[in-house]
Amino acid sequence: MLDQATNRPDLPPEIARRRTFAIISHPDAGKTTLTEKFLLFGGAIQMAGQVRAKGEARRTRSDFMQMEKDRGISVSASAMSFDFKNFRFNLVDTPGHSDFSEDTYRTLTAVDAAVMVIDGAKGVESQTRKLFEVCRLRDLPILTFCNKMDRESRETFDIIDEIQENLAIDVTPASWPIGMGSDFLGCYDMLRDRLELMDRKDRNRVAESIEIKGLQDPLLETHVPAHLLERLREEVEMARELLPPLDPQAVLEGTMTPIWFGSAINSFGVKELMDGIGTYGPEPQPQNADPRQVSPEETKVCGFVFKVQANMDPKHRDRVAFVRLASGHFERGMKLTHVRSKKPMAITNPVLFLASDRELAEEAWAGDIIGIPNHGQLRIGDTLTEGEMLRAKGIPSFAPELLQSVRAGDPMKAKHLEKALMQFAEEGAAKVFKPSIGSGFIVGVVGALQFEVLGSRIELEYGLPVRFEASQFTSARWVNGDRLAVEKFANANKQHIAHDHDGDVVYLTRLQWDIDRVERDYPDVTLTATKEMM
Ligand code: G4P
Repeated sequence: MLDQATNRPDLPPEIARRRTFAIISHPDAGKTTLTEKFLLFGGAIQMAGQVRAKGEARRTRSDFMQMEKDRGISVSASAMSFDFKNFRFNLVDTPGHSDFSEDTYRTLTAVDAAVMVIDGAKGVESQTRKLFEVCRLRDLPILTFCNKMDRESRETFDIIDEIQENLAIDVTPASWPIGMGSDFLGCYDMLRDRLELMDRKDRNRVAESIEIKGLQDPLLETHVPAHLLERLREEVEMARELLPPLDPQAVLEGTMTPIWFGSAINSFGVKELMDGIGTYGPEPQPQNADPRQVSPEETKVCGFVFKVQANMDPKHRDRVAFVRLASGHFERGMKLTHVRSKKPMAITNPVLFLASDRELAEEAWAGDIIGIPNHGQLRIGDTLTEGEMLRAKGIPSFAPELLQSVRAGDPMKAKHLEKALMQFAEEGAAKVFKPSIGSGFIVGVVGALQFEVLGSRIELEYGLPVRFEASQFTSARWVNGDRLAVEKFANANKQHIAHDHDGDVVYLTRLQWDIDRVERDYPDVTLTATKEMM
């Protein structure tokens, strides 16, 4: 089954060969290094190191601002396409910093699988666990890469146990490490009975792959020193007894994760992982929409916007909307219907993201990510179709956890500030609320670093210095119910009411007690901490 381009011969071959995925990991586990090696083996870059942008979460704050200024880099790293064997991989980047978790959540709605990278010495860390939980909400298949095996790492069984217990998922070894740290020799490929040896001399080269006939093959003795070989035989035998064998269906359902061991920096184990993504990773999956699900093999094009990046060039106020194609075969110049406004849109200059270059996309298939430059028409959650009134479902907006009021340094510039804020709200960079009473705006975010990035972008992109100040409110909830009930509620609670950038009514408070009271006293309205972005 390995290396086949498809497990779904019923799909058009171009769709069946696509694998759209994200990498989840804790900062420093090696996501950036692994991405680089993917691109290297995908032929997208000539030499590893060319697209190196430091792991985001490890960046200092000033690095982060610099990156935000350097919008080009973060955009080209947002989605990357490359070919490997018969497969077309679309790798979608997730921000590493937990302050940008909402963005990450939305990115994970655009992929069909995730690669979880863990550090062999550290095991499952906090950010990995959080991201894993998000993947589980969507039953995303997960493939695991245990990195840094060239360093002292934990015992293989310990690592596997920890993943099983911590994340409540079955783990099956796709490879088994031989030695560790300075003794690390390579892996025994459990799926293909091969010996994969690491080349310590050339980090960008993949070393020998030796076909063997099972663990008793005398050929092993010529490559693996006796003490390591004895241990390998023992451990693999135990693993085969104690751990479940690879069950492709369970992997697709997200209840089992295969694990590969390797060292990204030494290019070791990466190709085997890529083979695994191709073989066990899912083809483009059906996407949820209203009023019906969209299947990738449908001939008509349908896509949804999961991310917007604005002002890449501050002089032009351009934006790129990242669209995940849910179905069909897209060709440049196509006229699609922008469902929210019901208006046609000619897509004349879509971009595909090939590693560090942006390239005009002549065509794209279900599963691909394309960028559509626009002047603000496209928002997160928007759907594009060939005419059918479908709306993407399941792209949520979360109630912010931190609120501050914001003022322009120059009070004469209040209108400019409003424009800038609305723009960032549409991009999904922050929530912006206009209170019913008084002037000014309240900005809500999930992580404090977002305030800093926002402040610096408003200054940089709009030339407006701003001040954030403590707000009297700490929580925001969307108010739902029929129009009259919501109006009545809003009129009776004016001091707590604001509108978000879509004009939806929001209840602001600092007390959980208030929220409980509303729920008790106003049975006709409900307060929610999420809303679907449309
Ligand atoms: P991240 O994106 O997940 O944050 O991690 P990144 O790839 O930036 O890797 C974090 C550090 O771990 C880097 O070292 C990187 O070189 C190192 N690393 C990645 N893979 C391996 C591996 O297989 N083995 C070993 N020993 N180290 C690995 P750094 O010193 O922080 O950065 P740099 O100076 O190397 O760029």
